[in-house]
Amino acid sequence: MYKEIYLDAPNIGELEKLYLNKAIDSGYISSVGPSVPEFEEKCADYLQIKKSVSTNSGTSALHIALYDLGIGTGDEVIVPALTFIATANPVIYVGATPVLVDVDTRTWDIYPVAIEKAVTEKTKAIIPVHLYGNPCDMNEINRIAKKYNLYVIEDAAESLGAKYGGKFTGTLGDLGCFSFNGNKTITTGGGGMVAGNDEQRLDHIKFLINQARDNPGEIYHSEIGFNYRMTNLQAAIGLAQFERLEELLAKKRAFNSAYKEELKDLKTVRFQKEYETAESSSWFTGIIAEDATIRSDLQKRLKERGIPTRRVFRPLNEFPPYRNCRFIDHGNSHYIYERGICLPGSTLNEIEDVNYICKTLKEFYCEGSFVC
Ligand SMILES: Cc1ncc(COP(=O)(O)O)c(C=O)c1O
Repeated sequence: MYKEIYLDAPNIGELEKLYLNKAIDSGYISSVGPSVPEFEEKCADYLQIKKSVSTNSGTSALHIALYDLGIGTGDEVIVPALTFIATANPVIYVGATPVLVDVDTRTWDIYPVAIEKAVTEKTKAIIPVHLYGNPCDMNEINRIAKKYNLYVIEDAAESLGAKYGGKFTGTLGDLGCFSFNGNKTITTGGGGMVAGNDEQRLDHIKFLINQARDNPGEIYHSEIGFNYRMTNLQAAIGLAQFERLEELLAKKRAFNSAYKEELKDLKTVRFQKEYETAESSSWFTGIIAEDATIRSDLQKRLKERGIPTRRVFRPLNEFPPYRNCRFIDHGNSHYIYERGICLPGSTLNEIEDVNYICKTLKEFYCEGSFVC
């Protein structure tokens, strides 16, 4: 065994322990405490937007965004078919209907041409997902949204730090939703964020996620609210992780560059492509193997050599709750699912680990009849 290689394990160190212990010692262990507003301000400053509201998950961030925009029964919301199921479930939570749209085989992101085919009189919003950190074609998506008067809720769960046209993903639509789950670029152990420039809306979201309490000193509720708050302990970990964001992003991007450089001669391996003005956060580096059999054999080989990988998300139409959804299908999501692999992206790994992974991959491809 070479040494342990991590797929997506969190990178938690002394700073996180220090801030967490301070929060514990302060007695503020639940949703009240100074770390929560501090974390929210840090996020808003970093993203260069007016306000961000922390939540207890990326899923609840997406749910509250849809809810606050008034999307509900009778409405349709466009989502990519190739994503984690948490993009689409909140559409069902608010009583609306998800409409699935295929992705582009080059970028793996929602395909703008297919979005336009999916729009009906009932369409209220688009949720573009910056898959594995790779920014969507936001110019085109915003153009379509403007033309049909639709909201854009960015699912930036995987793309903190990614940019499109010089702006951070999550700040390019009406609202941006982030995840701080344990496997994300930075983590709070579990948490999320809604971000945007409409301060009034974000104040209302802050109120809704805190059980719709009108006044912190009183127990009076003028609306139905939610308990979607981030705790002070989670925010304390988040503050430490935020200080290390540039370090963690730089590492992920260095891994991505090394994978691309070292595997560039393998003719049958293709990488997820970025749009011209985009800069991925490289949360994961995804590749497409030649076909499903090679993908499966490759995963087996890498596993034998101590290298964990994961398959690309299964398209949503292949799950029972989404089987009967309308789907603008060009066959691309399924194509990528059959052939796609995410290579190790944890920042606990080092560049030497990426060298070892690439060497193992090259050995696999250069055997037998594979082109190398
Ligand atoms: C694309 C996408 N959307 C939404 C989520 C939901 O985030 P969370 O797990 O924090 O609820 C995740 C991650 O888990 C995700 O990858």
